[in-house]
Amino acid sequence: MEKENVDQLMNLCSRRGIIIPSFKIYGELAGFYDYGPIGLSIKSNIKSLWRKMFVKEMGNLEIESTIIGYDKVYQASGHVKTFTDPILKCVKCGSTYRADKLLEEFFEKQKNYELAKNVGHMSLDELQGLVSKYNITCPKCKGEFSKITAFNLMMKTEVGPTGGTIGYLRPETAQGVFVDFKELYKSYNFRLPIGIAQEGKVFRNEISPRQILIRMREFSQMELEYFFNPEKADELPLINNQKINDEFLSKKIYLLSREDQAKNEDAKKVSLLEALKLRLIPNKIFAYMVYKESRLLEILGIDEDLARFRILMADELPHYSKGNIDLEIKVNGKYEEVAGNAYRSDFDLSNHSKMSNTDMTVLDDNKGVLPHVIEVSFGLDRLFWAVMSNNLYKDEKRGWEVLMLNKVIQPFQYAVYPLQKDNALIDKSIEAQKILEEKGYSVFYKETGSIGKRYAKADEIGIGKCITIDYNTLDDETVTVRDISDATQIRVKLKDLGN
Ligand code: ATP
Ligand code: GLY
Repeated sequence: MEKENVDQLMNLCSRRGIIIPSFKIYGELAGFYDYGPIGLSIKSNIKSLWRKMFVKEMGNLEIESTIIGYDKVYQASGHVKTFTDPILKCVKCGSTYRADKLLEEFFEKQKNYELAKNVGHMSLDELQGLVSKYNITCPKCKGEFSKITAFNLMMKTEVGPTGGTIGYLRPETAQGVFVDFKELYKSYNFRLPIGIAQEGKVFRNEISPRQILIRMREFSQMELEYFFNPEKADELPLINNQKINDEFLSKKIYLLSREDQAKNEDAKKVSLLEALKLRLIPNKIFAYMVYKESRLLEILGIDEDLARFRILMADELPHYSKGNIDLEIKVNGKYEEVAGNAYRSDFDLSNHSKMSNTDMTVLDDNKGVLPHVIEVSFGLDRLFWAVMSNNLYKDEKRGWEVLMLNKVIQPFQYAVYPLQKDNALIDKSIEAQKILEEKGYSVFYKETGSIGKRYAKADEIGIGKCITIDYNTLDDETVTVRDISDATQIRVKLKDLGN
């Protein structure tokens, strides 16, 4: 089976209502997408898998904080001052562009790959210098640009009827965790290390939304903030009173070092142990997070050679980070960041401590410590898109597309189809549906359309198995079970379904 490209995926998504551009009947607003029932189901299943692997299995906890954040929170976190992208505005037609991205495309077209690669690391003045030197004008109308400025990506609002109190729609879920940290620590009698997770909607007023779910203005994150004593960064937590076996360090990943990037080389396959020894990964806790991420990708059906962990260059680091390793996955032939792993140190706790006058230190071995934080921040929509785009195939034999998902994220594990619209077959189908649902499976039911068309629909939306109830079922209580992976069919006793 041949892998399909992103255009074909988008086509499928719009045909089957998997994702829909928001406000479509009003002509769309860039950067906003709705999920239809199938898309939502797959997305929710990915979220549940993350919750299982990054919250429950690690003995971590999860909270839900508000979406609107108080002004002081984002002043303390540094977002008011530094959460910006460089913007270019056309003085003639008013179009706006993210300066570094526009220049990257410009130099790529000119085949000046060195400059295309470097613009992402440049200051506003350096970018401005290139716009003047190369006489770059608006791609839409050839108008001149005004001076490059820093554009803050946070969406601002006012709180209360008289206004005056500024609020921001959160640009990351993390700040809710930092702000509540001390309260949670006290109430739940925590011990270090402890992970506090949060998932939910975040908002960024991106200058140039693009590539459907890759750069949106409203999207979901799944974040884990892992708090630990900085003197014990190589001590892993006990999970259910058991030590984590060091075997995980033999896991191999593709890692792109700063040196490789400077030399334009590809990522190298190394074990986590080697990466730790070479100090490419700062400590064992960080290595464990990378291990969990690579396991998640395996389960999600992303081939290991489609993913790499890229160590960010010093000038790419977010303002809060002492070191970042991004998880990047190839989507449509290009690596896209799907998760950011950041060593946030005590940056956030110490700034909130100063701004709010609250002591954020906690006791560890009877000594007061300000915990350090390692963050694993997944973009849920990007992960969804990476999974979808790497698991959609064209099957020439079947004559349609097949979405090959791991069964833990399939929108339905079973479809139940009566061969024809016949009351006796329908009754047996309802019985089959009940048997499966009682065993905990999610079941899709459809009685209209030819059986071929119903199989095609099941394959396109990633349903694992199709059960067909035919006239033999009425005689011998057996049904046909068809598997999405190879379309083979076997006959099984009705009562044994789902065993
Ligand atoms: P990029 O460099 O692509 O703008 P970022 O470095 O700003 O991403 P982070 O701030 O580290 O991203 O955000 C954490 C995660 O949130 C990212 O790894 C990504 O998966 C997701 N994310 C960030 N911005 C967007 C967006 N505009 N649309 C969808 N997902 C996003
Ligand atoms: N929490 C990481 C980020 O969104 O920047």
